[in-house]
Amino acid sequence: MGLGSRWLSIQIFVILCLGIGAQKDCSPSPSSVYISHSPMVICEYLPMDFLECSDPIDPRGDQAARTRLGYGCPRWGGNRYEEVLMTAVNCSVLPGVECFGDRIFKKDGFPCVRYTGHYFTSTLLYSILLGFLGVDRFCLGHTGTALLKMFSLGGFGIWWVTDVIRLVRGDLMPADGSNWMPYV
Ligand SMILES: *[C@@H]1O[C@H](CO)[C@@H](O)[C@H](O)[C@H]1NC(C)=O
Repeated sequence: MGLGSRWLSIQIFVILCLGIGAQKDCSPSPSSVYISHSPMVICEYLPMDFLECSDPIDPRGDQAARTRLGYGCPRWGGNRYEEVLMTAVNCSVLPGVECFGDRIFKKDGFPCVRYTGHYFTSTLLYSILLGFLGVDRFCLGHTGTALLKMFSLGGFGIWWVTDVIRLVRGDLMPADGSNWMPYV
């Protein structure tokens, strides 16, 4: 081996070392300081498309639990926006999505609404066509009043009519506190 080729191998060695050193400098250091002008988004600011969120917690009517925890749904449903309770749920960032900070966190602004397969249109049809047998109330889970309504043949016709009106006005809802299915 001549002097020239030895020099060459030393040069290559040095260049390689420098390259590795430089690479080390470029790799992101596990810093706990958020750099606001970096492209990394804070996990909690990610839009819903990148998150997986749990269902709201049901403390089964326990208002004290909501006061203590600050979240949960002691009451479900409602017809108007103001009537619907809002709560926080647990959200986690989907795997493979990069972001800064905790990947699991509490996120607020979820409505206390649930759906158990009650459709407004079919219930209204039951109420109009079979209201004298209390079929509408049976379907909604109001079994006690449904039996009364059936044996009185729809309250001698009066209950039959008023329940149709109450349905349309939104005063007669599923007994389990669920909302009408949003898409018919
Ligand atoms: C989040 O998850 C923890 C642990 O499973 C649970 O104790 C807590 O109640 C949850 N919080 C919410 C807002 O659902």
